[in-house]
Amino acid sequence: MAELGHDVLGIDVDASKLSKLEAGDLPFYEPGLEEVLRRNVASGKLRFSSSYDDAASWADVHFIGVGTPQKKGEHAADLQYVHGVVDRLAPLLVESAVIVGKSTVPVGTAHELGVRARALSPAGTAVEVAWNPEFLREGFAVQDTLRPDRLVLGLDVENPGVAESVVRNVYSSLIEDGIPFIVTDLATAELVKVSANAFLATKISFINAISELCDVAGADVTVLADAIGIDERIGRKFLNAGVGFGGGCLPKDIRAFMARAGELGADKALAFLREVDNINMGRRTRMVELVRKECGSLVGARVAVLGAAFKPNSDDVRDSPALNIAGQIQLQGATVTVYDPKAMENSRAIFPTLDYATSAREACSGADVVLVLTEWKEFAELRPSILDPLVRRKLIIDGRNCLDPSVWRSCGWQYRGMGRP
Ligand code: UDX
Repeated sequence: MAELGHDVLGIDVDASKLSKLEAGDLPFYEPGLEEVLRRNVASGKLRFSSSYDDAASWADVHFIGVGTPQKKGEHAADLQYVHGVVDRLAPLLVESAVIVGKSTVPVGTAHELGVRARALSPAGTAVEVAWNPEFLREGFAVQDTLRPDRLVLGLDVENPGVAESVVRNVYSSLIEDGIPFIVTDLATAELVKVSANAFLATKISFINAISELCDVAGADVTVLADAIGIDERIGRKFLNAGVGFGGGCLPKDIRAFMARAGELGADKALAFLREVDNINMGRRTRMVELVRKECGSLVGARVAVLGAAFKPNSDDVRDSPALNIAGQIQLQGATVTVYDPKAMENSRAIFPTLDYATSAREACSGADVVLVLTEWKEFAELRPSILDPLVRRKLIIDGRNCLDPSVWRSCGWQYRGMGRP
């Protein structure tokens, strides 16, 4: 927002994050974001505070960007943080104000928050709630924010006000550049976001199911994906077979979507997403079984795991297939050494019992099998000659189909991909 030219005050309840941000340090890894942060902190356009009073008295528009994780032991989304923001902010809003939600929420939440905000605020009906879902991808957050492929704005049609003109003004430079700006009602805006993620998850599980067929038929899913992807109606993106999707969005969003559909009495409509989830989780087990089969037994096997983040160019290990597989293999008796270029600290925090190496070479030293579970460029560019003198056995399993099998085989390695002969 500051980069788009606005004066921004970032509010957070976590004092350690605030002090890092104020010093220009990001509390997570995201390519290109630190430069944007530093530039705007230095110019004074971006400031941080823990005070809701500062936010309420100073801002014209309040964006909510807090998390909506999966509830413990349930599929539904945990809305406590979104509610927490409205409950603290609304009583402080004494004049007309626009609250714009960016968090991914179950359909119906924005309407409910509007009712709640108006009831809590001294400004009453002069407080508006609109929804502006966020579509950015981790690893491309800066690019996706400054050059999004579309903007969606949901408005409360029962309480029309100034929200549309306020948000149009916030994004005026993007709208002038021709980025599609879709204005709709609150429910549609909420559903756009979860439908987009459900579609992406379905596409990945589709190709992973086909890859299992390729395995039994001796076909190559990577060539198949290239061939079907040329058809513009299908498209090549999100057709990479492997150990499946993870992260803080796709897995929990499809589950919360199913849970909400159930609450609304439409659970049958989304029953297919259960299968999407099952196919996806099955990919992790499949990788563990593949390693067991190739090693004979997991007990005593020395396994090098390259990659811990849920995708490259991120240090995010939430629901990461890579770390989940590493953990399962270790729990079944293998010695597992993990290396990831950026996600080591986060991995250690949630999986302290795994061994961690400081480089790919160190992780592979003495290994009976090397697993590539996150397609970092560094791993895709690995050459067999680098690992040849280090490993105990020349066996590599490519959980992301990101290596060239012929390169490894021609150097005497046994190569196994997923859905590739
Ligand atoms: C996703 C959506 O893409 C984004 O629009 C939304 O705003 C947030 O959720 P993100 O969580 O950053 O973004 O990850 P994404 O790039 O979608 O990848 C999700 C997972 O799918 C990763 O684990 C990735 O490795 C996996 N994936 C992706 C595949 O297994 N195959 C593919 O072809 C593509």
